[in-house]
Amino acid sequence: MLLDFGLLSKFAAEISALGDADFHGETSLFIEDIINKNADHKVFAAFHEEKAVGFLILSTVLDEAEILEVAVSENLRRNGIGSELMTEVFGWCEKNGIAQIFLEVRESNLPALNCYGKFGFVENGVRKNYYRNPSENAVLMSKKVSVVF
Ligand SMILES: CC(C)(COP(=O)(O)OP(=O)(O)OC[C@H]1O[C@@H](n2cnc3c(N)ncnc32)[C@H](O)[C@@H]1OP(=O)(O)O)[C@@H](O)C(=O)NCCC(=O)NCCS
Repeated sequence: MLLDFGLLSKFAAEISALGDADFHGETSLFIEDIINKNADHKVFAAFHEEKAVGFLILSTVLDEAEILEVAVSENLRRNGIGSELMTEVFGWCEKNGIAQIFLEVRESNLPALNCYGKFGFVENGVRKNYYRNPSENAVLMSKKVSVVF
């Protein structure tokens, strides 16, 4: 579900902990920025037994969106939670006038590459040595959205 300000505040620590393991502390910074109103990103979350078990952070500018982060609790991966988040986000994009969604992903990240491919993202190019720790190329991907009026 798309988190409003109250829910984001309530689950901020859980979501930050979930993401920081994979994104080297970046998730906390994103969440902090949103809560402090320094950023206007949307945060979608999936819940299991009242715990946040997956999240996706989306940045939007005019009719374009970017998936900044998506992660699922390690012990619950490969159970469709990532797909659930993607499906919800695409529905939100369709209804909110987003024409195209972009993202970048480490080229060794096969689960994510497969997941994005399954949902219709196509590769647009490679950004050489974009990532640090370890240094790695980023694959740039995008997906067109059919806007619903
Ligand atoms: C990418 C991620 C969010 C997918 O979440 P998930 O809940 O495991 O995904 P789902 O169970 O819905 O799987 C959706 C598709 O992803 C692909 N996929 C997921 N895990 C995979 C794996 N271990 N190996 C290969 N493909 C995989 C498959 O195509 C799968 O579809 P299928 O089950 O019909 O084959 C999850 O692996 C994750 O949190 N990874 C760590 C964080 C990360 O790398 N995020 C992306 C950064 S850009």
